[in-house]
Amino acid sequence: RKKVTISTLRLMYKKGEPITMITAHDFPSGHVGDAAGMDMVLVGDSLAMVALGMEDTSEVLLEEMLLHCRSVSRAAKTAFTVKPLPTSTDRELTTYVQVGDLPMGSYEISPEQALQSAIRVVKEGRVQSIKLEGGREMASTIRKITTAGIPVLGHVGLTPQRQNALGGFRVQGKTSAGAMSVLEDALAVQEAGCFAVVLEAIPQEVASLITQELSIPTIGIGAGNGCSGQVLVQVDMTGHFPPGRFLPKFVKKYGDVWSEAHKAISTYRDEVKSRAYPAPEHTYPISKEELEAFSR
Ligand code: KIV
Ligand code: NA
Repeated sequence: RKKVTISTLRLMYKKGEPITMITAHDFPSGHVGDAAGMDMVLVGDSLAMVALGMEDTSEVLLEEMLLHCRSVSRAAKTAFTVKPLPTSTDRELTTYVQVGDLPMGSYEISPEQALQSAIRVVKEGRVQSIKLEGGREMASTIRKITTAGIPVLGHVGLTPQRQNALGGFRVQGKTSAGAMSVLEDALAVQEAGCFAVVLEAIPQEVASLITQELSIPTIGIGAGNGCSGQVLVQVDMTGHFPPGRFLPKFVKKYGDVWSEAHKAISTYRDEVKSRAYPAPEHTYPISKEELEAFSR
């Protein structure tokens, strides 16, 4: 595999090869996403909830996003310089396209404010592109940013930053008028210069039709498999949370990282309590002579 760039994504789209995207919020999650061969990594503002324990994404600040973007982008650099991890089979490591989310409050006021925030995400966050939520009403803002040479990933359908106005995390495009509205939003962000667009929580048939109408890739989340690619929140799909936690219908749990970590930590606890850990192999030696001299 070669370095994945925006033009690589374009090629995959032309060939009909699905584009893979995963979220990451720090160095390890970026590193494992890269090693597993993701085409794109998104530093989503979902990190507010999954990494920072906030109630919703409205709380996270641009400054906080920048710190996390920087951590993830360092993982891409490492991926380029270190040897493949033993777990990464025969895959060559690659640099993926990194996308940083513009958090709520950092882009709605004016296209100028949005461009300023986008520049900070690229210059200080060290990622190559940004994502922002919204359709027709965001067209001039997207145009402003893409004209400055910063690639923009659009995001229409369910836009979590507007959950208060939408009345919660609600499926969008379930009526013909609703579906038409999502299509118009997708066309508007394409027209404004987005290199791709995330379609979140809309019926599969609607997402497929929108994908056919567009000439840029669609990245689906809760939008069925007719999209040009897929994205999931990494901690959800790897099972980073205790069993029984609510997950949206579209999430497939591919792993059980929480149980693995829980097992490891509780075994460690037991072994410390019973003095089974540390064992001799976990300790540093000292010569008999030195020890005698010391203990005299
Ligand atoms: O913040 C995020 O993780 C996202 C994806 C779910 C698309 O916006
Ligand atoms: Na987001």
